[in-house]
This record gives sequence, C-alpha cells and structure tokens, in this order.
Amino acid sequence: MPKLTFGRGCLAEAGVRASIRGMTRIALFTDHFLKDGEHVNTVTQSLSDNGLDVTVFSDIRIEPDDATIIDGARFLSGGKFDGVISVGGGSVIDTAKASMIYALHPADLTDYFAPPVGEGRPIPGPMLPHLACPTTSGTGSECTSVAVIRINALNTKFVLGSPYLLPDEALVDSGVCDSLPDNVVASTGFDLLCHAIECYTAKAYTRWQKVDDPSKRTLLQGANPWSDLAASKALEIVGQYLVRGVKDNTDHEARDKLMWGATLAGMAFGNSGTHLPHAMSYGVTHLMHDITTRDYAVASPFVPHGISVIVSAPAIFRHVAEASPERHMEAAEFLGADTRGAASEDAGELIAQKIIGLMKKTDAPNGLSGVGFNKDDAGKLAASSFRQKRAIENTPRAISLGDIETIYANAVNYW
Ligand SMILES: [Fe+2]
Repeated sequence: MPKLTFGRGCLAEAGVRASIRGMTRIALFTDHFLKDGEHVNTVTQSLSDNGLDVTVFSDIRIEPDDATIIDGARFLSGGKFDGVISVGGGSVIDTAKASMIYALHPADLTDYFAPPVGEGRPIPGPMLPHLACPTTSGTGSECTSVAVIRINALNTKFVLGSPYLLPDEALVDSGVCDSLPDNVVASTGFDLLCHAIECYTAKAYTRWQKVDDPSKRTLLQGANPWSDLAASKALEIVGQYLVRGVKDNTDHEARDKLMWGATLAGMAFGNSGTHLPHAMSYGVTHLMHDITTRDYAVASPFVPHGISVIVSAPAIFRHVAEASPERHMEAAEFLGADTRGAASEDAGELIAQKIIGLMKKTDAPNGLSGVGFNKDDAGKLAASSFRQKRAIENTPRAISLGDIETIYANAVNYW
C-alpha cells in the first residue's frame, strides 16, 4: 500500500507531502478538463507555497492510448524532474505511471505488456516518487500497481503491471466529488462495484499453480484474505450509498463513503485482479460506435469505463456463480441483497438482480442494447474480449470463447 491520506481538504497538503518526499521539481499530470480548475489550482498553490517548481502535462485523453504515453514519456525525459504528482481520474493516474516507465526504462511499446500482445518483459526498476490524487470515486488507481492503456494498433486496452508502478503516496480528498455530475458518480460507482465484486469472486489464490521461483509469482493473484478485507467493505459501501451519492450532490456522507469505497476497491484489485466483467468491457469499448454519454464532453464513440463494465455484469454473474456459490452468496449479502431462504444455486441471480436494481435506480443503460449493440454483435464482441487472457484466467469458472459469446447475447437487455 502507498501512504494514504483521506479526507476533505487534504489536497491542500500536496506541497508539504511532496517536500517530505524530497521532490523539488515536479511533473504534474492532469487532463485538459481539470488543468484550469479548482483541484489542480489547490495543488499548484500548495506546491508554490512550499517553494517547489511545477510543470503541468495535460495532454491526456480519457482512456489514454500509446500516443499519450509516448508524449508523456517525452515530457518527463526533457524536464529533469525528481517527482510526479497526478491529479485526475484513472486515465490521468495511469498515464503518469505508464509515462514514467518509458521515460525511465525506454523500450519498444509492447515490450512490457504481457503476451499475447507483448513480450512480457518485467519493468526493470523504480519510477520517480509519485503522489497520486484521484478526482473521481471509481478508479482506485492510486493504490494499484497497474496501468490500463489503449494500444491503437490493436484498438483495445491492455494492462501494464509491476510492483514499481504503485504510487508512493495518495491524497484522497473526497471533497472533489461534490462537483461531479450524477452520471459520472454512477459510472465510476459501477466501476468500483465491479472492482470489488470481481476481486471477491475471482479464482481463489489457492487454485493458481504454485510457482517454484517466488520472483515469478504473479502480481495479481486471485481472491485472497487481504483483498477480501477491502472488497467486502467496498461492496457494503456501494450497496448502501451508490443511489444516494448519484441522486444528491449535497449528500456528503454518501459521496465521502463512495470515495473511500473506490480506494478500498483499488486496494483489492491491485492485489487480487479483476475478471470477466472487466475483460468483457474491453470488447464494448473496442467496438462501440456512434454513441455519446451525457455529462462526458467526449466525442462519439464514447462509453464511460464503468458503464462498459456494468452492462455485461448481471449476465456474467448468472453464468459464473455456480463455480463458487458460497462466495457469490456472500458477495450478494455484502451488496445488501436479501439472501434469507436462498439456495446456493440462487447466488448468481441474487447478484444479477441486485446490480440490475442499482442500474435502474441510477438510470444506467439497459444492458448492451443501451450502448448500441444487439444480439448479432455477440460474436465480434467475444472475439475482441477473448484477448484479455489474464483477466479471463482469474474468472472463477473456466471460460471459452463460446461462453463469452453466449454471455454477451444474454446481456443485451435486462428489463
Ligand atoms: Fe475498472
């Protein structure tokens, strides 16, 4: 875990925290929506109050791609920086992480991505000191050792992972959520929900093959007692506070809790890893066409990450829960489902109904049809998602290409 400070107003501590870390010349990563706004201003003011130099890099698109990373690495290489601060959602924090990799350890782009897309070379050494400041209640990237990057040539997203990517410190200021539109709180809330439930129901660490060489042990190791701690609490939070947090931006209790839930879910997925809902979300964002989303000033085609994950989730849990019904029943309970009198074979349906209820109450799209797909698209979506080998292997039930196609076909609409 990074050192973590949580609470309203803590962004103003950035200068002191950076000084203590020994930073003097700082590269600040943010995006063009945030760069002239209140949160970045709070951070830069705090840095200058503490006599620290700061240069801003804001050329970051939502869902950063390899071109973004190459630009970020070039920016870092030219600046003689001794520290990085990221202020933004997952796209910004992940860009900061990935840019440091290629600035400090230059290589061909795909060298550090896992097969089949890359060479799977381990990232060979440390990054610059990194202080991460999330501005949405979803990503959790401030406490993970992974970055998700879109590879343009393959037209989809893949994961970079290394213990060296874990930020050194995080300032999680829940006050930043007050200004988030309802639709953003809903999408990021569904991302956090899926991080938590995927970690809790992932293939257990005891089912992964034992490695002879401890250095070969995977970074993301399946459901385990440590990730269970954080994932179970995050599920309770999202079940209890998501609708309130979406509906009322003056409900500080709900928005604070969701921010904490996102951080907890990040702790879990940086350790356990996500599984099929995230793998299948990449097919959606690969093949989406002619779609925009309210409250996101992003050109078509665009589906927010959390929505791309949640649209298939009910159909996925209906399919996979039979592999470990007790775990799925517990997850349903954490989310707030009434499990009294339920049999173990009901676990997947209980989770599906709970998620569908939250989707309806937050005006989420009704499955894949709500984001522009129909049953005929299932085959193409499956072929795209099937490339996400790591996440598919972390699924509690063995999954074939045909299974994924069937699940997509069952995710077209729910009500
Ligand atoms: Fe996610």
